[in-house]
Amino acid sequence: MVSVEEIRKGKHAGKAVELRGWIYRTRAVGGKAFVVVRDATGIIQVTISRDAVPAKTFEAVEKALIESAVVVRGKVIADKRAPGGYEIRAEDVQVVHFAEKFPIQEDQSEEFLLDVRHLWIRSQRMTAIFRIRHTAFGAVHEYFRGQGFWETSPPMFTPAGSEGGATLFEVEYFGRKAYLAQSWQLYAEALVLAMEKIYYIGPSFRAEKSRTTRHLTEYWHAEMEQAWAGMDEVIHHAEGVISHVCQRVAEERPDDVVALGRTPEFLKAVKPPFERLTYDEALKLLKAKGIVLEWGKDLRTLEERALTEGKTKPIVVTHYPRITQAFYKARDPKHPDLVLGFDVIGGDGVGEIVGGSERETDLETIKKALVEQGEDPKAYDWYLDSRRYGSVQHAGFGMGMERLIQWICKLEHIRDAVPFPRTPARFSP
Ligand code: 4AD
Ligand code: MG
Repeated sequence: MVSVEEIRKGKHAGKAVELRGWIYRTRAVGGKAFVVVRDATGIIQVTISRDAVPAKTFEAVEKALIESAVVVRGKVIADKRAPGGYEIRAEDVQVVHFAEKFPIQEDQSEEFLLDVRHLWIRSQRMTAIFRIRHTAFGAVHEYFRGQGFWETSPPMFTPAGSEGGATLFEVEYFGRKAYLAQSWQLYAEALVLAMEKIYYIGPSFRAEKSRTTRHLTEYWHAEMEQAWAGMDEVIHHAEGVISHVCQRVAEERPDDVVALGRTPEFLKAVKPPFERLTYDEALKLLKAKGIVLEWGKDLRTLEERALTEGKTKPIVVTHYPRITQAFYKARDPKHPDLVLGFDVIGGDGVGEIVGGSERETDLETIKKALVEQGEDPKAYDWYLDSRRYGSVQHAGFGMGMERLIQWICKLEHIRDAVPFPRTPARFSP
């Protein structure tokens, strides 16, 4: 058994192979059938001559519609005219399943493609993205493990939120209210006092009603937390992990990168350090570009676009106004109205890829911040034990895996960064 990718890399030139896959395209001309077969790794042309196979086999091939499942036996031939440079001259083709007429044809609407997402995921575009996603997830694990972080697992059913009530999904939990995790935040700050350097990749849930090209209601979140560390150290890791993912994708999936409209060279150049500016500096820069943002307001898509215009690497914005920020972020000792928080912002309209901060360590300060945000500190009592028993400086961040993949693959919409996207408008198929 071989894969299309191995053949296209030249590993089986001149040899007899067996390939399993599905018919991607098919046409018969005279005594020949040209069947393009896809497997998980790509597509390859299979040429079947009427006189090279039993009559029944050729008939079956002629009858088989696209997405029929096939097993092909034949010889790999280097042929410059074939897409990818190789083709298989078939000696035998077994049609394992004759597909019904496939509902997806060319030029169908986005909405229809979302209705048949369970079939659209077989497309060359989607499978290229999935392969890059696979490499990206592996690279995040590799980076953090390589830096001495422990992988730990937080719960998804939680008694309280960490990122504000507006985006909390409520679920009925045997007659009581529970919430789906927006982040591992509270659990990370408990676990970090046990394990010191921790990370995780898992789903986060946001009841985000805004229909944008960069919000999902369910997304995969790569999060890290580090004890005995401040904002600068974790910014260093944010740059490190993004760069590592870009290097791995460039090395392992160059063809997929090109197919999606980026180049491996572009990704290879994503190396630390990234350009860094404070929120105040960002406002000044925006003003010079004719965009006035009131101090204290969050950067929106418009501002993020302007700040990243012409940049080939993401940028880091630090020291945001405290009023817009979650209760657990540490105040800047030099400017108490700012937090030691940062975002990593990508270009092409993707915006915030990473959000992180140093954490407030003082019990009374954090209780006050909870009250200011309309929360009842009693609901967070277990969490506040992290400020009662051995509170130390710590910091961390969360990275949206789909945002990162959207940026790497230059996707117009974040929904294509995940096989079955969850948005306000739909949660099926
Ligand atoms: O900035 P956020 O809300 O930060 C947190 O949740 C922190 N507790 C993380 C931490 O410090 N451990 O979310 C972090 C990242 C964002 O930068 C963004 O990339 C992604 O999560 N994100 C989303 N991705 C897709 N759809 C959404 N609705 C998202 N909301 C946040
Ligand atoms: Mg954020």
